[in-house]
Amino acid sequence: MAFTVAIDGPAAAGKGTIAREIAVRFGLAYLDTGLLYRATGRRVLDGEAPLVAAKALTPADLAAPGLRTAEVAEAASRVASDAQVRQALVEFQRHFARRDAGAVLDGRDIGTVICPAAEVKLFVTASPEVRARRRHLELSDGTSYEAVLEDVRRRDDRDMGRADAPLRPADDAHHIDTTDLTIEQAVDRAAAIVKAIR
Ligand code: C5P
Repeated sequence: MAFTVAIDGPAAAGKGTIAREIAVRFGLAYLDTGLLYRATGRRVLDGEAPLVAAKALTPADLAAPGLRTAEVAEAASRVASDAQVRQALVEFQRHFARRDAGAVLDGRDIGTVICPAAEVKLFVTASPEVRARRRHLELSDGTSYEAVLEDVRRRDDRDMGRADAPLRPADDAHHIDTTDLTIEQAVDRAAAIVKAIR
């Protein structure tokens, strides 16, 4: 039986770290769905139309370096509000989620749209200031903290405000606020929730 863990939340709340660690601890496959939007955004920056770009994605696109820049994040967030782009990426994500070994997917709409029947749903948040501080430490391109905070807020607004698959917790999601948690504490909390259901 497939076992799916859906992890949603805003940028830099700790979803990716939690998702990777849950995958390791429980022997599940992991898909960072933000990569699909980032890789689509990358192709759009290179001149392709959004829908063409989304349909043309290959594993090599997802493994490409340079997808973690602020420029690509912004392009990803823009293509992510295109309903046709989102639709083009649904089947790949659902197929991944159904693998026999079980899977962890993280993103913005996994528990609400992609895998509404997921066995475990987590909604991971943190204050915008703490998220911007974490992202600022990760970026080594000289971007100021203030600029990162502005980026975080703009992406939050766009992700929560779009008509199709907006960022919001599923009704049955477990909430984890990582503002005052260490990475270890956040992962342990998530693991305890998964263990109780697995
Ligand atoms: O998670 P990450 O920051 O890599 O995602 C990049 C952008 O892709 C997000 O700002 C969001 O707009 C979009 N995204 C989405 N739905 C997902 C994953 C990411 O709309 N499931």
